[in-house]
Amino acid sequence: MLELNGVSKWFGGNPVLRDITFNIERGEVVGLIGPNGAGKTTLFNVITGFYRTRSGYIKFEGRDISRLNPETICRLGICRTFQVTKPFSNIPVLKNVMIGALGREKTLRDAQKRAEEALDFVGMLDRKTLLGRNLTVADRKRLEIARGLATGPKLFLLDEVMAGLNPSELKEMVQLIDRLINAGITLFVIEHIMNVIMNVSHRVIVLDHGEMICGGVPGEVACDPRVIKAYLGEEYALAQG
Ligand SMILES: Nc1ncnc2c1ncn2[C@@H]1O[C@H](COP(=O)(O)OP(=O)(O)OP(=O)(O)O)[C@@H](O)[C@H]1O
Ligand SMILES: [Mg+2]
Repeated sequence: MLELNGVSKWFGGNPVLRDITFNIERGEVVGLIGPNGAGKTTLFNVITGFYRTRSGYIKFEGRDISRLNPETICRLGICRTFQVTKPFSNIPVLKNVMIGALGREKTLRDAQKRAEEALDFVGMLDRKTLLGRNLTVADRKRLEIARGLATGPKLFLLDEVMAGLNPSELKEMVQLIDRLINAGITLFVIEHIMNVIMNVSHRVIVLDHGEMICGGVPGEVACDPRVIKAYLGEEYALAQG
């Protein structure tokens, strides 16, 4: 479904992504982990057209999307959440989500219906009249997901939607991710919470200093000495036995 080949990104004189090559198949849940500053969010920005790859190509459903803008890529069926949530603070939740829905629907009425369905999906329909600025962290994360969902994604990129949640909110978020999977949406998920990412992912990709140092099923990745050294640490490895 998604194919990256030799993708790279530099900021000034610094390589932030180097020669990234991997595929994501339809129906998969792929985790993306790595230390702070490894390049995970930058990779999402390159896939979704916010930044341009300096080399190689990105294909989605066989079509080269490397030079397309974010709106076009979204229309093709790739959407993402933002690590730093950005609700429009002075407008209600429903309208925040309608902005996503308007990419798919021609009339406001249809966009509203689609937005309400997305809010219902994430469990926020009862909060549709709240203003963006009055939301809790957990609701801001859910709103990001609803807005993405309203664009009708085939591939959904989630950037740390669990960060800052308390244990019960975390449990709800895992259930929401399960609902996305059951709805047939392919997921590419950045997360620092290891027991969650290792449980939900079919495969995990590890970035360190802009390089893909490992990719495989969670059990393999968790035992890989390079991953333990760069990210997980000896304690995690010992705890896993
Ligand atoms: N717009 C930018 N201009 C210059 N440097 C940037 C820009 N965006 C990111 N960087 C740098 O690129 C590197 C990778 O950043 P990125 O945000 O992709 O990391 P990350 O893996 O998502 O980290 P975290 O886990 O903290 O979210 C960092 O060194 C960061 O400072
Ligand atoms: Mg990030």
